[in-house]
Parts: sequence; structure tokens; C-alpha cells
Amino acid sequence: MRLTIFLLILCVFEYAVSVDHTKFKTCEQSSFCRRCRNVKPNNSKFALLPGTLNIYADSVTAELQHKINKHVFTLKIEALEQDNTFRLLVDEKTPLKSRYRVTDALKSAPKPGSIKVQEGDAEFTITSGANKAVVISDPFRIDFYQNDVLTVSVNAKGLMTFEHLRTKPAANDAADEITDYGAWEEKFNAHHDSKPYGPEAVALDFSFPEADVLFGIPEHADTFALKSTAGTDPYRLYNTDVFEYILDSKMALYGSVPVLYGHGTQRTAAVYWQNAAETWVDIDTAEKNVVSSIVNFVSGSRKTDAPAAHFMSESGIIDVFVLLGPSPLDTFKQYTSLTGTAPLPQMWTIAYHQSRWNYNNELDVAYVSRKFDEYDIPMDTMWMDIEHTDGKRYFTWDQYKFPNPLGMIKNLTAVGRHLVVIVDPHVKRDNHYFFHHDCTERGYYVKTRDGNDYEGWCWPGAASYTDFFNPEARAYYASQYLPANYKATTTDVMIWNDMNEPSVFNGPEVTMSKDVIHYGNWEHRDVHNLYGHMHALSTFEGLMGRDPNQRPFILTRSHFAGTQRYALIWTGDNMADWGHLQHSIKMCLTEAVAGFSFCGADVGGFFGNPNAELFERWYQTGAFLPFFRGHAHLETKRREPWVYGEKTRLIVREALRKRYSYLPLWYTMFYEHEVTGEPIMRPLLTHYPKDKEAFAIDNEFLLQDRLLVRPVIEQGVKKVNVYFPAIDDKSNGDVWYNIDTLKRFTNVGYESIPVESDTIPVFQRGGTIIPKKERIRRASTLMKNDPYTLVICLNREGKAEGTLYVDDEKSFDYRNGIHNYIKFNFENNKLDVNPIGKLKYKTPAWIERIVIAGLERVPKSATLIIDGVSQELEVLPHGEAIAIRKPGTSVQQIYNIRLNY
Ligand code: GLC
Repeated sequence: MRLTIFLLILCVFEYAVSVDHTKFKTCEQSSFCRRCRNVKPNNSKFALLPGTLNIYADSVTAELQHKINKHVFTLKIEALEQDNTFRLLVDEKTPLKSRYRVTDALKSAPKPGSIKVQEGDAEFTITSGANKAVVISDPFRIDFYQNDVLTVSVNAKGLMTFEHLRTKPAANDAADEITDYGAWEEKFNAHHDSKPYGPEAVALDFSFPEADVLFGIPEHADTFALKSTAGTDPYRLYNTDVFEYILDSKMALYGSVPVLYGHGTQRTAAVYWQNAAETWVDIDTAEKNVVSSIVNFVSGSRKTDAPAAHFMSESGIIDVFVLLGPSPLDTFKQYTSLTGTAPLPQMWTIAYHQSRWNYNNELDVAYVSRKFDEYDIPMDTMWMDIEHTDGKRYFTWDQYKFPNPLGMIKNLTAVGRHLVVIVDPHVKRDNHYFFHHDCTERGYYVKTRDGNDYEGWCWPGAASYTDFFNPEARAYYASQYLPANYKATTTDVMIWNDMNEPSVFNGPEVTMSKDVIHYGNWEHRDVHNLYGHMHALSTFEGLMGRDPNQRPFILTRSHFAGTQRYALIWTGDNMADWGHLQHSIKMCLTEAVAGFSFCGADVGGFFGNPNAELFERWYQTGAFLPFFRGHAHLETKRREPWVYGEKTRLIVREALRKRYSYLPLWYTMFYEHEVTGEPIMRPLLTHYPKDKEAFAIDNEFLLQDRLLVRPVIEQGVKKVNVYFPAIDDKSNGDVWYNIDTLKRFTNVGYESIPVESDTIPVFQRGGTIIPKKERIRRASTLMKNDPYTLVICLNREGKAEGTLYVDDEKSFDYRNGIHNYIKFNFENNKLDVNPIGKLKYKTPAWIERIVIAGLERVPKSATLIIDGVSQELEVLPHGEAIAIRKPGTSVQQIYNIRLNY
């Protein structure tokens, strides 16, 4: 009896807190996924047509034929000028109508470089530098070699699909080889997809012979290392608004970034599958099943084949970039050099954000802002969710709750704070609403098949959706951000774009029907995963038009490859439980390698009410993730840092102050991210590529190669196991220093670290120099001219290096070189400070303290030498380290400091 009640409670609980699966398709319920997944391996239907090879200086073309239906396709292969990247394009030679090509994801058209081609009997070889693509005719396959090592194979499993466009066969026409019942129309729940163009799927498999682990293809609430999809659905990429999403799931979420990496101890490679239609990805981790693993155990190997991925998209063409690494960082950079990096954000945007759905009115906003001051807790930004609008009409204000928005904004900016407001893409169908009126008159909405404005249901009730693929609609939308149009805002107000998958409450799978029409006569099917990207781009254009010399700040929920150039992301509507806290790290790590370094999760959890412990631990974790915002659902209890009482308040305050103390490091990392394309948040394998144990670790992460962060993300623990990775395949590792105590850790492997409720286990790598600010104020904007502290942690050779980046924290002047970028080097008991480029940004900021950890002996004093003039400095003990007091040097000076023994 008891057990039944327990199970019943469990079921009710399950039901109450987890996603409604019936709303979303499985692969089996999707005709194209079913078709592509049913293709049998090792029997590829595609072969090159003899005599069709054309060799150009920077590319080759050839014709591919489907051996059964004889349809002909064109194949183009380029080697990009940019290192170690090939591009592969397959389209129909003479399609019935053009097929969609993604053009908005790349930052610019990649330039093909020169190649050499060697023809053989049954194959040809393209050489570009140290890379080679061997194209085999029949069955069609391409083997990519990096430095003579086979790194990626295309169609090695023979799973390629390319369904040519065709006229609808008469019923029972046995001649058509596509017999799936959903090929020409599909039903899902009460929704009907008319599929006027019939089957048009494309699919291809990629093998990674050198890989031990595959990762990438966000966004999923899953582990960093991709899991085998044998016996489960494939991972799905289809931007969707999933209510109460579940963890450890391959279900689609809000964003889709079709880049997938394969990593092994010797090399890393990746493929970027550039297709914006619904996509499913099967993963073969090449692990044997139980029976055969015994055979393998005996033979000493667990691998069968190479790990592989099978990408399957509903429409479009095959457009793939093959990135050949060879190191993890090389591969990450090859991807961002195609799709771009996030521009350096304003300093305040990487500080702390306070949000909830909703702050009730102007008094509430003033109250919260004041309370942060009263408790001396730093906070930079307050957020306005949808209730601030006049009946969910974006670009307007609710006159009763917010009668004087300009006054409210001024009150915030007067104390150094900012405001962010939400602007969703659905438009209330109200003839008195100017935006709806204009979009209707000018034809800016997404259309139904019969040419009417498409109508769906979202926050405002009946709504239509701006077609951001239409350049005119985009320009109109962008112009709404001009202060003259967006009444009662200022250029200090920044933007949150939500619900842009797009979310349509009454649509199939909570989104738009696939057969509705966008600008250019493209079906929604072709462009679905790009809709949010185009929304963010339009907002970006709006903010650039509003104030061309101020860096925009835009948060978007939906995203695609390249959206990072315009906006940052968060992981959507998570829940106040420990699993979601853990997944905030896994998800942001995957996003980071897919170009989205600026990522965070709702701190505290969106749905539900965190208890004090979870709330504290979430702030501690959030403090070390790139985007740091507390946010909560409308129906949750209030949870500003003080509502849990003094103990929690002090713990949260401490975590926030820690974040603020590291802002100079964060800012430097964001600058370096823009310039180099290397992610900020990194999986351990990035810098420890030979340490197999580290490959799948996703409860700790690196910030660049400087900090190792392993927050407490488990309930009630008194210690955590921190993994210190090995730099080689033996057990040599780095030296790590606990950032609070500067205690040294020199072993490789798991170390049990005792934790209290206020502990955040974070370690600085020996060999690094980190800039900090230790005078914490109410907002980051007020800390601009404050002095810096440098923390030098020495490696085993007594050396360390680091950088500091400083500018006006707001404008684009840095792009004209108005900044200071400084390099620190410590060696032979001497710190050298030199500029990288010119020191052009004038600032009163100076260095007030230099902490050095890892010295063998305590020096008597230190000597500062600027322009040949020496000055003695005092050296004091500092925990397990020493501190040089008040060097007083400006961040615009070149100098060195010598330790005296
Ligand atoms: C969506 C967002 C959430 C927001 C809410 C109301 O659920 O993901 O963050 O608070 O809409 O706008």
C-alpha cells in the first residue's frame, strides 16, 4: 500500500515537473527522420559520374549520381584559405526549384585557397598544404587526412541521402522509390503539414577515426560528451520552446548549432553541417555491446569502428565544413573563424543581473535597487519582463505600473546601473497597435500558403510574426529601437529577445507550421532554425542604428551558428533543482565550443522555489559562468539575495563580490575571445588533450587556461572531488593554487577538497598572472578607475605570464586601438610589464598590490624600475604567499619589478 502511494506521488510529481512528450515528435513520428534513419549502412547509392571532374585553381567540381534513380547532383569541394578547413557542397544539378542555402550564418563568404589535384583511376586527391582529401568514386566517399593521418571520413558508412525534388507521383505509383506514408503530407497531433514539395531530405555520415569522444551540437540538456543513440532517438536540432524541459535528454531545445567535434589523444577535428532545417543527429560512439565487449576485452580494445555522426536534415542542400584541427583550440578557432565571435561586451554586462518575471512596478524596481545598496551587495542591471508592456505590445509601457519609465531608468543609471527590457517577435493582432498596423499594411508578416498573414497564439493572445528574413521588415523593426520611436527609453536600455524559436503556443510542436511562407518564397521548413538568428540580427541592427558607438547587449533564447556575433544566450526555462544547476555547466560548456562563450543559466532556477542551500550554491556557480543573471517565473516566491535571511544573504553577497573582483579577468578574456575566437569557458580536454580521464568531465571547467572551476553542485556535501588533469599521457600535471588560500596542489588525479557553505572550489593554474579588483562597489561601472591587484601563481619553473585588457568599457573606440593591452611576464624573480601594441587609452587606474604564490623563499624587498629609475617596495606575507604593497604603477606604464633576497 505504502509503495503504491509512493509510486503515485512519484508519478504525479513526474507529471507535474516534466515535459509533455506528446507535444514533440520522435524520429519515428517524423517522416524524413524515419526515411533517413532507415538507410542501411555499407550500401551507398551514390557514385561519381566518370568524366565529370573539373579542376580549378581553388576548387573541384564533379557530378554525383544516385545509382538507382539516376538523378544527378553536383559536388563542389574547396579548401579554404583559412587553415585546415575544407568545404563540401552537394546540390541537385537541375532541381525542380532552387533548394535553400544558408547565407546568414557565416560571418563572411569564406575564401577558397589554391589546391593541387591528382587523378587516379577510381579516385582523385586534393591537396592543400598539409591536408588532403581523397575522393573515392564508387561508392562515393571522401577521406580527409591531416598530416597524412586519416582524420574525418565522409560517407564511410554509406548513409548519404539526397532526395531530389520531384512531382507528386500518382497514388500507388510503384515507380517512386520513396514510399513512406508521410512523404507528401504529414499529420502530427491535430496539425497538418501540406508538404507541397514532397520529400527533400539530405543526410550524410561522418566518421572520426582518431576520436575517443564526440561533443558539440547544442542545445540539449545533456552531458558534454555525446552519448550513443543506439536504441534511443537521435539528438534533435529543431528550435523549440519546451515547457519544463527534462535533463539527460536528446530532445531539441531553443537553439541549434550543428557543429560536432571528435577528439582523441592525438588530434581533434570537427564538421559544421550548415543547414537550417529540422535536423536529427545519430551518434555512434563505437562502443561494443556487452557480448562483443567481452571479445574486445580479450583483444584489449573496446573500439569497433570509428566514432561517427549521421546528420539528417529535412530540406536544403549538403553544405559542410570539415575542420581538421589538429588541436582542440585549433578546431574551435577554425569554427569561429567561419561563424564569427562575440564582440567585446560592455563591462556592466558581464557583472551581475537581477531579473524576475516580473518586477511589479516602478516602486518595486526602486525598492530592489535600494535594497542591494542597503545590504552592500553589488548589482549592475535590472530586467523588465513582458508585464512591463501595455498588454504584451512590445515597444510600449504599461502606463499604470510604469507611468514614468524615463524617471525609473534615470534612477538606475544615476547609481551606475542599467535596465534591460524584453522585446519578443510575436505581434499582438490589435488594429490600434501601431506595430501590428504597420506590419499588416506593409506585408511584413510571415504568410500562410494562401498569402494571408499567419496567425498563432502567444503571450498577447492572437499574434502574427514579423518576417525577419525580409530586409525591409528588418529595417522597419530595427528603426523601432530609435529613441524617437521607442518612447520612454534611452540609449542606456538594452534588449532581451525571447520566444523566438518562434514559440507558437497552438502551433505544431509549439512552433510555426512548416508550410508557412517567408520572404523569398521559402518555406518555414527551410529556415526554421534561423528565425531567432534573424530576430537577433535585426535587434543588433536596431541598436547599432540607435547609437553606433555603443556596444549592443542583446540576450536571445533561440540561436543558430553565428548568432554569437549579435547576441548572448541563456539556457531558457530551467528548474530550481540540483540537476538543472549541474546542467548549467554542461550546457554552457557545449555552447562555448559552438561559438557561444557568452552563456549562462537562470540563477536559482526559473520554475520552482530553490531552498537556501541550492540558492547559495547556484550563485556560487553563476559567479563563474560568463552570463550571470538571477531570474524566476512569475509564480515563484520572491528571491532577492536577502529574502532567505542573513546567512544566505552573506554567502550570496560573497559570491557576487568574488565575481566582481574577477571582472578585470573576465573583461580581458572577452577581449581575447573576440580577437582569437578561442572560447572563454573550456572543457578540460582543451588544454589536457592527452588525458582520457578528463574527456568526459563536465562538472568542472576551465576559464581559458587560467582558472579551474569546480563549484559545489551537489546537495549537502562536505567535500568535493576535484580532478586535476594530466598534461601528458603519464601523470605529470600543472601546479594549481586554491584562489582563497593560495594553497598549492601538485598531484594529478582526484583530490578530495573539504567545503563549507561559503566555499567555491576554484584554482588558479601555476604559470598564470590574473588581474583583479578588490574594492567592490555597488555596480561595476563605478569601479572603472579603481586600482588593480595582480595575482601571480608560479609554475614549477618559477615562471608565470598573463594579460590585462583595459578600455572605456562601453564604446567601439577600442576597435581603433584606443585601449591598453598589457603583457605580464614573471621569470627569474622578476616581473616584466610590457604593452602589446600601443597604450592609447587614458586612465587613472593603477596597480595597488601584487600577490605572488609559489616562491621558494620569502624575499626581503622588491625594487621597481621605471625608465631606469629604481624605487624600493615593501613585501609582506600574504597567506601562503607574499604581497608587494603599492607598486603604484599606472596601467599605462612599462616597468619591471625585481625581488630582492
Ligand atoms: C519565457 C522565458 C522566460 C520569461 C518568460 C516571460 O518563458 O524563457 O525567461 O520570463 O518567457 O517572458
